[in-house]
Amino acid sequence: MTSMNAAPSPALSLSGVGRLFGALAAVRDVTFDIAHGERRAILGPNGAGKTTLFNLICGDFMPTSGTIKLFGEDITRLPAHQRARRGIGRTYQTSLLFVGLTVLENLYIAVRGAKPGRFSLLVPRASDADRAKARALTERVRLAHVADKPVADLSHGQRRQLEVGMALACDPRLLMLDEPAAGLSAAERPELNRLLKELPRDLTLVLIEHDMDVALPNADMVTVMKDGAVVVENTPDRIQDDPVVYEIYLGKKVA
Ligand SMILES: Nc1ncnc2c1ncn2[C@@H]1O[C@H](COP(=O)(O)OP(=O)(O)OP(=O)(O)O)[C@@H](O)[C@H]1O
Ligand SMILES: [Mg+2]
Repeated sequence: MTSMNAAPSPALSLSGVGRLFGALAAVRDVTFDIAHGERRAILGPNGAGKTTLFNLICGDFMPTSGTIKLFGEDITRLPAHQRARRGIGRTYQTSLLFVGLTVLENLYIAVRGAKPGRFSLLVPRASDADRAKARALTERVRLAHVADKPVADLSHGQRRQLEVGMALACDPRLLMLDEPAAGLSAAERPELNRLLKELPRDLTLVLIEHDMDVALPNADMVTVMKDGAVVVENTPDRIQDDPVVYEIYLGKKVA
């Protein structure tokens, strides 16, 4: 027997969330919950509002309507850095790596940057704990063998893996990845899938992904957006048969 009262708060709860850019409703009336530990894929054509929704959840933009809760706490009006401190980690659709620095140095900066007083970075104080954490992150994102290589020497796929590591540096409870497989070759995709599979089960994951071969195997539930709104929500095995999804992807072959 389960009781409603005993139900834990969802990791993320969106209620009527919207964002206008002038007359354009980039995100409109989005309502859904993501359970603690759930893996959720967000699909949709270009311009559907997926990245804007991420920006609203992370606090890069404020919503013009609606409410956002993180583990039951209303975070709708909090600035981005306070949301990060409460456990939201994310990657960006466009890479934000320091290409002249090594993998380990990038992760070290992310670990240091995730802390209050991050501007002490200008006078780095060697901290064994932070260095050990950066080193451990190289393993978590399967880059230990290239830890001392500059980012400039990494493959595209390895850079994508490092971006996930940067997002993990703040010990997120909710990890949000914006098109982690974008631009990956078919040969690079399995490594990303392995990395995603190895993430701890209690980490809630939200994944924007055009590539169904990455999205579907990594999702418990799939949300499809179009013109700023949620049009379909279903399990990965049912989503492919949905006529709306079929139409959006114009009959593109899916896994
Ligand atoms: N800062 C902004 N100012 C004005 N319009 C914006 C802004 N950001 C996004 N938009 C518009 O909002 C709509 C949704 O864009 P968004 O980037 O969220 O789509 P997306 O689903 O992530 O698309 P893609 O798959 O191409 O990344 C688009 O019409 C876009 O031009
Ligand atoms: Mg986008």
